[in-house]
Amino acid sequence: MRIFKNKTDLIAYVDALKSDNKTLGFVPTMGALHQGHASLIRKGLQQNDVVVVSIFVNPTQFDNKDDLIKYPRTLDSDVELLKEISEDNIIVYAPTVYDIYGNDVKSTPFVYDGLEHEMEGKFRTGHFDGVGTIVKRLFEIVRPDKAYFGEKDFQQLMIIKKLVEKHRIPVEVIGCEIYRAKDGLAMSSRNTRLQPDYRKAAPFIYKTLKTAKLKFGTKSATSVSEWVENQFAEHDLLDLEYFIIADVDTLKTVKRKSNKKTFRAFIAVYADDIRLIDNIALN
Ligand code: PAJ
Repeated sequence: MRIFKNKTDLIAYVDALKSDNKTLGFVPTMGALHQGHASLIRKGLQQNDVVVVSIFVNPTQFDNKDDLIKYPRTLDSDVELLKEISEDNIIVYAPTVYDIYGNDVKSTPFVYDGLEHEMEGKFRTGHFDGVGTIVKRLFEIVRPDKAYFGEKDFQQLMIIKKLVEKHRIPVEVIGCEIYRAKDGLAMSSRNTRLQPDYRKAAPFIYKTLKTAKLKFGTKSATSVSEWVENQFAEHDLLDLEYFIIADVDTLKTVKRKSNKKTFRAFIAVYADDIRLIDNIALN
C-alpha cells in the first residue's frame, strides 16, 4: 500500500494516475478508522479505479483544545484496516500539519448560505471554517472525480456540497448512509474513548431517535422535541446538548410540518466529556 506523507509526492502520483485515465475517489478522514469509514471507502472502490484516503487530524476544526489533544491517532492500525479492504487500490495520504498549513495553522472564513449558523455551527464556533479550509485544500491536492462523506455528519455533508458549488470545484460529492454498531450506536472514532458504562448507555441515543421518528408521524415538532428533552433529563449518564428537527435543505428548525419538505432529526449528546452526534431521516 502506498502511503504519502507529503503533498509533492502525492501530487506527482495523482498526475501519473490521471495521465493513465484512472478514475479517482477520495475519502477524507481524521483516522482512527472504523467500519463507518470502511463503508465509504468500499463505496469509493466500487465506483473508481483508485481511492485516496487522507488521514489527518485537522487542528483548525477543533473548537475544544482538549478534544484535539485526546483525538486518537492510530496510523499503524488504520493502515492494517485499509489493507484488509484492498492492498492495491487504496492510496493513503497522511500529511503532517506543516505539509498542509506550513507555519500558518489558521482557517479561512467560509460562507455557506447560512448552513454554517445552524446546529453544530452554533455549538462549535469556527468548526466549519476549519472543515472548509482543510477539505478545499485536500480537494486541490488530490483532485478526485468523486468524494465520499458520511450522513453521520449530515451538516458537514451539506456544507461540503455548498462549498463545491460555490467554489466550482470539479468533484462529485456523494453522501453515504450512517454505519452503526449492532446495538445501534453510530460508529465514531470517539466511541473508543467511552468508559464501559457510558458505552453501554450510548445506544439510548439512536433508540430515542427512532421513537422520535415514530412520534413525528402524529405529533408536532415541538412536542416531539419536548419528549426527547424529557427522556434525557431523566437519564443518569447522558446529557442532551441539542435535539432539533430541521428542514434538510436549510437545516433550520422546523416550525410547521409540510408534506412538500424533507425533515431530519439531529442530536448532540455528552457521554461524560465525550460529545456524540447522530441523526435520522423523518419522512
Ligand atoms: P472523520 O470524523 O474521520 O470522518 C470521516 C468521514 O467518515 C466523514 O465523511 C464522516 O461523516 C464519515 N463517517 C464517520 N463515521 C461514520 C459512520 N458511522 N457512518 C458513515 N460515515 C461515517 O469528518 C471528518 O473526519 C472531518 O471533518 C474531515 C471531513 C476529514 C475534515 O477534516
